[in-house]
Amino acid sequence: MDIDVKRKKNLTYAVVKNVYTAAELKRIKKEFSVFEYVGPEKTDAAVDNGAYLKDGDGAWVDSHYKDNRQSSALLTANRVLFSPELTNALEEADVFYGQLKKTNFDSTLLNKYSSGKEYKPHVDDSLISAVTFFKTGQIISGGEFVFPEQKIKIPLEDNTMVVFPGLALHGALPFKGRGKRYSMAQFAYITYNK
Ligand SMILES: [Fe+2]
Repeated sequence: MDIDVKRKKNLTYAVVKNVYTAAELKRIKKEFSVFEYVGPEKTDAAVDNGAYLKDGDGAWVDSHYKDNRQSSALLTANRVLFSPELTNALEEADVFYGQLKKTNFDSTLLNKYSSGKEYKPHVDDSLISAVTFFKTGQIISGGEFVFPEQKIKIPLEDNTMVVFPGLALHGALPFKGRGKRYSMAQFAYITYNK
């Protein structure tokens, strides 16, 4: 895992390359075929003026593995978001990320995009979000992850994760090619039960 915590304008975010080992990556990509992918209206996609901002399909990973989370390659490997290595690196750069250690609920959404599909800029309702990119097949160009307000564009690279505050405006650009772009979104929250 190669962690690079960056800051531009008002945003501290992390770009993590080589998130998963080759063995984990193989298991994760194999798992992509077990899900039933549904349209944006069923994945809580952001809306602007009545129109969905996402046109890719997605699958809620947690509900698929309701009673057997431990058997999911994605749900076991993606605990890495809460690893001391990553949370400490983020907190050292910005006190805000101390919150990541306090989150007590998270959900995982696997998005699947084919050529031309995108997720226009939006904010998440999470405290902290992480999006991990996976490529399958041939992707020629495009598919970058963007933070438009800070003019940040992160190239689409396989096995790469971006961690950011959920309220930072972000989106995914369309790509060219016959392959698929999978992005695993993890939404972390602090829930209060009083
Ligand atoms: Fe998002």
